Amino acid sequence: MKSIKVGLLGFGNIGRGVWDILQTNNTTITQNCGYKIELSKILVQSHRDRGIDKDLFTTDAYDILDNEEIEIVIELIGGLSPAKDYILRAINNKKHVVTANKAVIATYGDELLGAANKNGVYLYYEGSVAGGIPILDSIRESLAANQIQEIMGIINGTTNYILTKMALEGSDFKSALAEAQAKGYAEADPTSDVEGYDASYKLSILSALAFNTNLPVENIYREGISKITPIDIEYAKELGFVIKLLAIGKQGENSIELRVHPTLIPAYHPLAAVNDVYNGIFIKGNAVGNLMYYGKGAGSLPTGSAVVADLISILKKMSCKYSAPTAISDAQKNLQSMTATESEYYIRVMVKDIPGVLGKIATLFGNSAVSLSTVIQKGEGEPVVSLVFITHQTIESRVQEAIEKIKSLDEVSEIANLIRVENHYKA
Ligand code: HSE
Repeated sequence: MKSIKVGLLGFGNIGRGVWDILQTNNTTITQNCGYKIELSKILVQSHRDRGIDKDLFTTDAYDILDNEEIEIVIELIGGLSPAKDYILRAINNKKHVVTANKAVIATYGDELLGAANKNGVYLYYEGSVAGGIPILDSIRESLAANQIQEIMGIINGTTNYILTKMALEGSDFKSALAEAQAKGYAEADPTSDVEGYDASYKLSILSALAFNTNLPVENIYREGISKITPIDIEYAKELGFVIKLLAIGKQGENSIELRVHPTLIPAYHPLAAVNDVYNGIFIKGNAVGNLMYYGKGAGSLPTGSAVVADLISILKKMSCKYSAPTAISDAQKNLQSMTATESEYYIRVMVKDIPGVLGKIATLFGNSAVSLSTVIQKGEGEPVVSLVFITHQTIESRVQEAIEKIKSLDEVSEIANLIRVENHYKA
């Protein structure tokens, strides 16, 4: 039995999961990859008793990165710096790398994959998107015969937990967030999850593989969930929808759409049943049709499962004599501007409850060529009431034009919310 030395950078939640999986599933893993895996050095910030041989730990990254006996490095420290430099150093030292670092891959993936190609080593990053769901390997391998037409993903567990609490228990955003923080799902500073940054990193990684793109993550349109209120969730329910934070990628004729925002989806859509901290990814390939992936998008063992699977993939490839490093894309694609995006829209307008208001607003929508499919009013006799409009499929620029005019009506106190609707799913 051949044996291979592996170095681990970081021993937090996921690092511990990797350790546990390598101990518990040792026999299966050895059978699957044909190697005895020896975790020979682990980088930590400081030494303390972890119930593991203390000689395995080091506080010096270069004990691993420059160690000639170590052939594979697993990076689990997270963040951009120093993780990116460590990965690059390992690659330049001709070591294969596995990482679960979405920020590094979304920001520097192209450069790092280029370096891996140049050095004839592999860089795998399954754990960076949707934790335990094997979505990257599926796109890369199992769906390789398809043109991917569409991806719609619930790829942030924290926001899905918050929206689920709001929908099922009527909580408001703030108290649902506080609960997510108490359970350890949301960070003390929840901005990355709540405002959609985390999901846009993951969408960037997904779209690079699915659509062969190489677009900066900052170019992805992004809206978070902090503006969603229980009232919107209630209206959506009444209209037959649920609200989810979706990461959407669509392949058009000459451009692609990439966007992260709260979205109304029909209550019968498979993604509508993805609740709590679970992730779900809906993919449409031109040969395979609709596919749905469901599972835990974070956590020690689910993400550890993805990391160890990458390790096994590399070992399987190493035992084949030919080496084919992961391809990178040099394709230049146009990212469709948000104003050219087509969707249906849910628009909630706060108005003075006086005769003629509905007519005026409907006329302004009509003047901008926005066709309405549903209008409902809640409340009566109060000074200000909600009018909710659902539009037919239309171009975003028309909706924005109408909104600007509607906002300036004396009878309108505010546009309380605008949420896009994805309503084209056919079971
Ligand atoms: N914070 C992420 C989430 C998990 O809530 O899904 C790590 O990517």
